[in-house]
Order: sequence, then structure tokens, then C-alpha cells
Amino acid sequence: MTNELLVDIDSVQVSVKLSRTRRLQIVDYASMQIRRGEMMGLIGESGSGKTMLCRGFIGTLERRDAYISGGKILFDGIDLAKAKDETWRAIRGKRIGYVPQSALAGPNPVLTIEAQLLETLKNDPKLDRQSARKRAMELLEIVQIRRPDIVMKQYPNQLSGGMKQRVMIACAIALQPELIVADEPTTGLDVTVQAEIMKLLKDIRSEFNTSIVLVSHDLPLINDVCDRITVMHAGATIETLPSSEIEKSKHPYTIALYKSRIDLAPPRGELITIKGQPPAVGNWQEGCRFNQRCDFVTDACLVGPHPRYIQLAQDHQTACINHASISDKVGSR
Ligand SMILES: Nc1ncnc2c1ncn2[C@@H]1O[C@H](COP(=O)(O)OP(=O)(O)O)[C@@H](O)[C@H]1O
Ligand SMILES: [Mg+2]
Repeated sequence: MTNELLVDIDSVQVSVKLSRTRRLQIVDYASMQIRRGEMMGLIGESGSGKTMLCRGFIGTLERRDAYISGGKILFDGIDLAKAKDETWRAIRGKRIGYVPQSALAGPNPVLTIEAQLLETLKNDPKLDRQSARKRAMELLEIVQIRRPDIVMKQYPNQLSGGMKQRVMIACAIALQPELIVADEPTTGLDVTVQAEIMKLLKDIRSEFNTSIVLVSHDLPLINDVCDRITVMHAGATIETLPSSEIEKSKHPYTIALYKSRIDLAPPRGELITIKGQPPAVGNWQEGCRFNQRCDFVTDACLVGPHPRYIQLAQDHQTACINHASISDKVGSR
């Protein structure tokens, strides 16, 4: 990993059009920087806006009903929030690969794996049909599919969940993108397969220096494989910090997520869960959106707009205005 910035997402907002006159803001403050070769985990409870944010910077929001309503997204210096179709055509799938959240539903069911890969590889003008076939085999080898010659001829319904996910990853890396966004790539897979897919993503990162955004609601999983994590809650990014410093978190929501780790629960003790529910989308209260659920709440948390990032160290930003009163050791809280 280098220090060179590949993606700079700054105060991004994503909205949907509910009707001709009604708009709903789904993401109202997202800031996240991704370096070349960095693996960034994006985590948060279901409904916090992770998928909508990712689709914003991959350019797959349905133009008709969802759009980026504020902020900027610089990808290698190009502002994607303002990009025209032609810019997107040069970037989507080519410089940014995507493993969508519904990927377990799988690759296109009516195409063989070979046809599927060739469809993607058509976008590489340097490849004729024969070299595209060779490259398809090579991609299946990269994602560690045994007997790629057999798998090439198969249809998705002949493959297990883990194999389908490998094929989806092969499609995402086919054109050697600089960034891969993998949205919950292991949700629904069993634990061993989960670990294998995580290892595969790590290997791809080290071999090709690809930046990866790994989306999940599972903090322990993300914390193990990513360099840094960004936490989202109720449509806003609330903390970014290095995974190795998770215990120095300065946001009560991150701390609560970390404490609810199953593997940290005492053997006979209760599983710690976060009290309350995240606020409903768009129905956000005054002040910090975590204030109803927070053990550290003060009067200042109940008023004003939702807090923006405060820079605590080069790689650590938090949105908690009371960060200074949060002690340094998660375990001692
Ligand atoms: N087209 C839409 N119209 C209205 N609400 C939507 C639309 N798309 C997504 N949402 C809502 O936006 C919120 C964030 O969704 P999403 O980004 O999928 O969350 P996550 O990926 O973190 O689980 C959810 O509450 C979802 O119901
Ligand atoms: Mg999602």
C-alpha cells in the first residue's frame, strides 16, 4: 500500500425521488478516503446506507430515482458526482470493479461461466476471441477455482454459493480495475467459505495492488482483513480508523459494535447487543443520530445538525463531539 490517494469521498449525499415532488435523503454525510492498494472496510447496521453510498461512487444508482445530491467523489482526480455517461463508460467495470450485494443470487443464470466472462472481456479491445478465452481461464485460476476447464462450461446453478461468488469476483477483476467494491460478498456463506473468500480478496490486493472497499455488517470479519475501517450509522459516516487501533475508537457506536462481538462475549454471559434501533431513514432526530442509544450522551448531543468529522490523528476521524471524554481502552469501559 502507498500513501497515494485513489478515492476521496467528501461530504457526499445520496437521495431518492419518491414522487415528482418528494425527496428522501438516504445518505446525508459520507466522507472516506481510499489509498492505492488499501483495503477499506465499510461497516454499519443494515439500512445505514452502505449500498446506496457504494452505488453512488460506482455509478449504478438508477438515474431515474436515486442520485448524488451533494458533495464530491474524486476518483484519481475525476469528480464522479458530476461525471457524464461517457466518463462512466470509461470507468465502471474497467477502472472500478463491483461485486454487487445481490451477488449470491449469482451470475447471469442463462449464461455459462465462459460466456459470462467473455461478455466482460469484450470490453478489452486488446483481446481477440482466443486470447479472451485464455484470459477467462486465467481469471478462474486467479480466483482459485479448481478445474477451470470444466467450470467454464457450467451454468451458475451447477455451482455452490462460494464458487458463484468466486466467479463474480473473477468478473469484477477481469479488466484489472484499480478499485474493487465488494458489497457483503460473504453474507449467507458458511464460515469456512467466508474465510476463503476473504483470503482471496486479500491475495488479489497484494498481487495487483488493487484498492478494495469491503462492505459488511460484521465488524470482527472486517477488522481482521482490512487496513482501516469506516463506520456508518443512519446515513452518515461516524468514524474512520486503522483496524489495528480499533480499541482506541472514539465513537460510542463503534465501541458498541466492537463490544457486541460474539467472540468477546463471556462464555456464559449474555451477548452484548446495542440497545434501541437505528432511527428510520430520513426521520432523523436533532443532534447526533446516535444520541438515543448512547451511554455517553450529553446535552450538547441533543441539538444542532448531526456532527461532522473531527480529525484526531492522520488516519483517525470521529464524529463524536465528546471524544475527549472517551477513555483509551475499549476493554476498560
Ligand atoms: N429507492 C428507494 N426508495 C426509498 N428508500 C430506499 C430506496 N433505496 C434504498 N432505500 C432505503 O435506504 C436505506 C439505506 O439502504 P442501503 O444503502 O441498502 O443500506 P445498507 O446497505 O447499509 O443495508 C434503507 O433504509 C433502504 O430502505
Ligand atoms: Mg447493503
